[in-house]
Amino acid sequence: MADDGEPARWVAVCSRERLTEQMIVCVNLAGIGILIVQDGKTIYACERACPHEQADLSLGRIADGRLHCPRHLAWFSLADGSMSPGWPSRGLRRYPVRENDAQIWVDVAAIVPK
Ligand code: FES
Repeated sequence: MADDGEPARWVAVCSRERLTEQMIVCVNLAGIGILIVQDGKTIYACERACPHEQADLSLGRIADGRLHCPRHLAWFSLADGSMSPGWPSRGLRRYPVRENDAQIWVDVAAIVPK
């Protein structure tokens, strides 16, 4: 809990070093699968299950700012979550993420709103 009695919003999910080694790190926050991914120098947090048919996006690959789904090979823009054209699905949910003290932090309030 934060000093003001409110639950802490930002949760440390992995070390910066681990993300550098793996490029895609799987975490679980409030029972929801989240991916922490790195593309170039930018870090993103997004849902793990593909919005199309729930394939595990941690088995996909990252290239040119896009996360490619391993099942049907659609891709999602990491910048805005949009899906490659022609797919009958919503975009990828992304979550606020930041780096501090060699740790990667995710805003859990954005994953499980009050
Ligand atoms: S399950 Fe990911 S594109 Fe179909």
